[in-house]
Amino acid sequence: MSISIPRGTQDILPGEVEKWQLIEAKARELCEKYQYQEIRTPIFEQTDLFARGVGDTTDIVQKEMYTFEDRGGRSLTLRPEGTAAVVRSFVEKKMFGYPNQPVKLYYMGPMFRYERPQAGRFRQFVQFGVEALGSNDPAIDAEVISLAMNLYKEMGLKKLKLVINSLGDKESRTAHRNALVNHFQPRIGEFCQDCQNRLEKNPLRILDCKQDHNHELMKTAPSIIDYLNDDSKAYFEKLQQYLTQLEIEFVVDPNLVRGLDYYNHTAFEIMSDAEGFGAITTLCGGGRYNGLAEEMGGPETPGIGFAMSIERFIAALKAEGIELEINQGIDCYLAALGEEAKDYTVGLLQKLRLAGVSCERDYLNRKVKAQFKAADRLNAKYVAVLGDEELANNKINLKNMATGEQVEIDLTQFVEYFQELKR
Ligand code: HAM
Repeated sequence: MSISIPRGTQDILPGEVEKWQLIEAKARELCEKYQYQEIRTPIFEQTDLFARGVGDTTDIVQKEMYTFEDRGGRSLTLRPEGTAAVVRSFVEKKMFGYPNQPVKLYYMGPMFRYERPQAGRFRQFVQFGVEALGSNDPAIDAEVISLAMNLYKEMGLKKLKLVINSLGDKESRTAHRNALVNHFQPRIGEFCQDCQNRLEKNPLRILDCKQDHNHELMKTAPSIIDYLNDDSKAYFEKLQQYLTQLEIEFVVDPNLVRGLDYYNHTAFEIMSDAEGFGAITTLCGGGRYNGLAEEMGGPETPGIGFAMSIERFIAALKAEGIELEINQGIDCYLAALGEEAKDYTVGLLQKLRLAGVSCERDYLNRKVKAQFKAADRLNAKYVAVLGDEELANNKINLKNMATGEQVEIDLTQFVEYFQELKR
């Protein structure tokens, strides 16, 4: 019986992986400009981290985690997201004591959620995310949002929609929470079991229910916007002012509730407006999580960040018909005829590579014509032909594949010649 790839995962093969590398390189380049530094945390963490961090009434924690017991009887979980671990590390490594504040970090790596696989929804996916810890200035919220928007734009995406909301501070949230309970309680029997459980524990989650989203009470539910206190309102207004200043278009959606529990104040999502993108249109999600560091046993620290998956990024590029330049081709293909010439190319290839030239030779004992075909498939800019006779005369033939021009070069000077040519 043959073994196949696990459901909801994918192999990223050559030809496709170059797109990933381009996006990843652009993300790193932007982080350098914005001064976010990379952090790498483990792929698995103690299960409690996510129960406490992401929130034990969320779908992620209740239904989607890959949790297992290790041989020492500890409960571990493959990370479903990156924020909880970054904040854990921030507290554990006492980054709140670093002289440079806020601490601005980014990460890139696989996350795992046991979700029903569909277009844009995988069980293993790669998130690029940033977290800025230690600042309560709405300007950093705007910076985080602009980093995400700029990454998409620099890769050519145009059909983007930024949706923002405020979930307010603790006081505003408590007032809103009470209003939600009063709103749903009389008819909670008409809702699914999950929502019935959510009513007491976390009524905000009801608004995010996939099953009951058409219930009439959903449309008339009290909106957080009406419960924001003066501080929360001022914070949200300042953010909008900064976004306008940065010429980032946005819409305010008071119904935007994110699927994780740690948010307050700013919440945002970036969607793709492209036709044919599919049912799941969210490319990126993030928000503010003041209080999470305290939850992890650290000092009170404000924080904000986002995460986006590369899978959805690539799907959005495809939906907008954007082809990334990937097949750059190699500099030189060494074609050889004759045993001695073939032996010689083994060393010559090495010298070229060490001199910074990307090159390849034949390993299948092919005839010269077939070697030229192989060079074509590799998109070689030059093909160097070496026969036993040329070798005896210390010469090599170099053909420019774009112009068809051919020159004979002294074999001992070939590497320098090529380096000069590349310059
Ligand atoms: P999230 O909304 O759960 O937030 O996920 C963020 C992004 O990860 C989504 O917008 C999407 O691009 C991608 N994503 C999530 N699930 C899947 C999946 N099953 N398949 C493919 N892509 C997926 C978070 O994870 C938060 N940690 C974001 C954050 C950072 N908030 C503050 N800082």
